[in-house]
Amino acid sequence: MKRIGILTSGGDSPGMNCAIRAAVRTALSIGWEVIGVHRGYSGLINEEFQKLDSKAVSGILQFGGTILQTARSKEFFLEEGRRKAVNIIKKNGIDALVIIGGNGSLTGALKLHELGVTTVGIPGSIDNDLYGTDMAIGVDTALNTIVQAVDKIKDTATSHERAFIIEVMGRESGYLALMSAMASGAEFAIVPEVPYDIKAIAEKLRKRYEERRSNSIIIVAEGATSAYQIEKELRDEIGFETRVTVLGHIQRGGSPSVFDRLLASQFGYYAIDFLNRGGSGKMVGLVKDEIVFTPFQEAISKVRPIKKELLSVMELLGT
Ligand code: F6P
Repeated sequence: MKRIGILTSGGDSPGMNCAIRAAVRTALSIGWEVIGVHRGYSGLINEEFQKLDSKAVSGILQFGGTILQTARSKEFFLEEGRRKAVNIIKKNGIDALVIIGGNGSLTGALKLHELGVTTVGIPGSIDNDLYGTDMAIGVDTALNTIVQAVDKIKDTATSHERAFIIEVMGRESGYLALMSAMASGAEFAIVPEVPYDIKAIAEKLRKRYEERRSNSIIIVAEGATSAYQIEKELRDEIGFETRVTVLGHIQRGGSPSVFDRLLASQFGYYAIDFLNRGGSGKMVGLVKDEIVFTPFQEAISKVRPIKKELLSVMELLGT
């Protein structure tokens, strides 16, 4: 019988609970014992453990956040903290760890793997910046949240004939900004991957104003610049009165979409299957509708590019 630990780390994302539920029930089905580690790597170091049976993961599928809670542990990123973690893992007879999280969390998973701990990673981050999966858990729900918010902002933007500059999350990635701009019919997306030309943007917005268009929407990825900065650069240049909305952490919450539930459930299942087949040191992912496994090193260091050509398609559709 194997004893495995499961933890969520870094920024939470909607659907993490589905992955926990799937991993726990798959592991139980092959006779393994599952320990839930609370508060990510911090909880691992502090032995914040809870035995998880099937009932413990009942009724959690539809909730955002993570029942295991999460943290960004500073201690774990020091060698001493990691050594402590390895000793705790050994002391508790934990044979393998399932780590659900984004870039920082999988960097931690790689370190544990290098220290001889059997590990499997599940991509959970709204940023969608991990190489080795087309989508991470939570991205689809975050996009839906952003698009719903933009739809609402458009109502008031139209009534007042204003331009709104809306800032979205994504860390160094422009994925959320680009995709939400496309799906909400925004006029522009400003992303870190492509330098922006404020003069060209201002010119197009002024033209829209002169054509008596009722609103304009510019979505800014936080990794590119701030919405306030763009507003400063556009103010008084485009005719439209301007307003700023920073969507913030609303993007990380809420009930997971059907897509995220399906993705997370599959990831949870296949992560355990991978361990059962003797695997370690890799992240499960979905690429072109196939379940694939990518070594942690690649998943965290290779850049997952956005489709830059979609930027001009989005702008064309938004004219
Ligand atoms: O990585 C997920 C993410 O939501 C980023 O998009 C954002 O930059 C960051 O986390 C915010 O982190 P925190 O919740 O610690 O403020």
